[in-house]
Amino acid sequence: MFRFRWARLLSGSGKEALPPAAYFSALPALETEHLLLRPLVRQDARDIFAYASDPEVARYVLWEPHRSLSETRAFISYVRGLYFRGLPASWAAVLRDSGRVIGTIGFMYYNGVNRSAEVGYSFARSEWNKGYATEALRAVIGSAFAALPLNRLEAQHDTRNPASGRVMEKCGMHREGILRQRIMNKGEFADVVLWSILRSDLERNNN
Ligand SMILES: CC(C)(COP(=O)(O)OP(=O)(O)OC[C@H]1O[C@@H](n2cnc3c(N)ncnc32)[C@H](O)[C@@H]1OP(=O)(O)O)[C@@H](O)C(=O)NCCC(=O)NCCS
Repeated sequence: MFRFRWARLLSGSGKEALPPAAYFSALPALETEHLLLRPLVRQDARDIFAYASDPEVARYVLWEPHRSLSETRAFISYVRGLYFRGLPASWAAVLRDSGRVIGTIGFMYYNGVNRSAEVGYSFARSEWNKGYATEALRAVIGSAFAALPLNRLEAQHDTRNPASGRVMEKCGMHREGILRQRIMNKGEFADVVLWSILRSDLERNNN
């Protein structure tokens, strides 16, 4: 099984956790081998439109392919509004060598009572199978558990989208099962696979 040392990322262990709104309103820049994760800016519209307009990218996510640059601009404004209000939101994933935005990754929700959250991501088709989603998800898991008082981080994917499950598996998430007809995607109910990683999973991997 894939093992990743979380010790450096988990140095805070949640004990010096930020108020979630402070974290979400100023998502930290995260560097991986090939990527920089940073908050979205208006200038990202063209790069994001280039892949978010691709029906193959949108196939198993809950948004429709963008039909115009103005739809992408509206999406960026929406995400920036989430930052402004300190709500769960996404990073832009930027290829460090070219400066191009090739995806987004971030939080779908945060629940302070259960200390749980969900992550999701999408990447440009031209960049699939190069390990970028895995790099990005690892960085987000590390940052989320270090900065937030989080106990459980979950992710789900359409059963017809196994590549996404493989990303979760490579990041040390646990496959919990199938939720039947859990979501309505583009006019039809879809089964999803639910995955999670707990703070105790990360701590176990450090020992
Ligand atoms: C799912 C997605 C994020 C994966 O991104 P990525 O950058 O290609 O992911 P990685 O390269 O880090 O890893 C992909 C893994 O899936 C595997 N994979 C690819 N196609 C697969 C398939 N049909 N079945 C099983 N595994 C598959 C790859 O071989 C790789 O695993 P490996 O490293 O063991 O070889 C990307 O395909 C995407 O953005 N899809 C569109 C949006 C989307 O579906 N988002 C997820 C919503 S839950």
